[in-house]
Amino acid sequence: DTPLRDLAAAKGKVMGTAVTGSKLTGTYGDLAGREFNWLTPGNAMKWASVEPSQGSFNWAEADQIVNFAEAHDQDVRGHTLVWHSQNPNWLANGSWTPAQLSTLMQNHINTEVGRYKGRVAAWDVVNEPFNEDGTYRSTLWYDGLGADYIASALTWARAADPAAKLYINDYNVEGVNAKSTALYNLVKSLKERGVPIDGVGLQAHLIVGQVPSSFQQNIQRFADLGVDVAITELDIRMQLPSDSAKLTQQAADYKAVMNACLAVTRCTGVTVWGFTDSDSWIPDTFPGQGAATPYDENYAPKPAYRAIVEAL
Ligand code: XIL
Repeated sequence: DTPLRDLAAAKGKVMGTAVTGSKLTGTYGDLAGREFNWLTPGNAMKWASVEPSQGSFNWAEADQIVNFAEAHDQDVRGHTLVWHSQNPNWLANGSWTPAQLSTLMQNHINTEVGRYKGRVAAWDVVNEPFNEDGTYRSTLWYDGLGADYIASALTWARAADPAAKLYINDYNVEGVNAKSTALYNLVKSLKERGVPIDGVGLQAHLIVGQVPSSFQQNIQRFADLGVDVAITELDIRMQLPSDSAKLTQQAADYKAVMNACLAVTRCTGVTVWGFTDSDSWIPDTFPGQGAATPYDENYAPKPAYRAIVEAL
């Protein structure tokens, strides 16, 4: 079979997956290298992973993934620089003045983006800034620095690697709704202010049978603002156990997501959040749910895989 990455490339799109560095060997490594042309470290580039204690860095897994990507002619999506979650305890539990927070953020961005300058094609600079109702999420960053932490982060990321594409990434922003409209208004105002922003990431952690009907329309409205759109963390979960009816619906859902992206020129492509059910975050985070990816636990392609092929 033709690898997904080649089918996608023929349509001007990319096909990515989140990966775990320690698994990039054997069948997992073969499939990650063969089927995909973008990799996102699932956890390895998060602040808690790279700076577990202040001033003491661990780049081993991130380096491994970037090296693997280069060996397989793949691009890397850096994930993620500024987030409320998976921060090291020393950072999350510290009490910081606004000036200190600002310096911490700037140094972190300089250090991480600088380390991978020229080797990471796009960064999820800010992750999950909004609540469901479109207000800003209360976080270490928002509470200390106000909404302009987002503009600051983007500006510092641009300075650290002018060639990297800079994204804001969030979930439940796939359809037109209050949260995606808040993201839309933010991007519009950043563009008007001249703050560097190249794209939005729509995570797309979806539920079987619930692909938003306004997905394509929503992608299009961001494209019309003059930014790229990437589907950054696609998975489509179901109540376990899976059965053939659910897997068939899931395949239709994967196809619908692919088609929404294929229909909009500025949609750069789709990244799945793990390509095998054996390396998916879903069962740990949503008890009783799973089977969310295109390959089963034994690396057999599921109907969802076939559906991606058909869409491409
Ligand atoms: C998840 C990872 O896949 C898990 O291994 C980890 O325990 C928690 O984070 N949105 C994001 C990702 O932006 O970083 C999250 O990744 C999934 C939700």
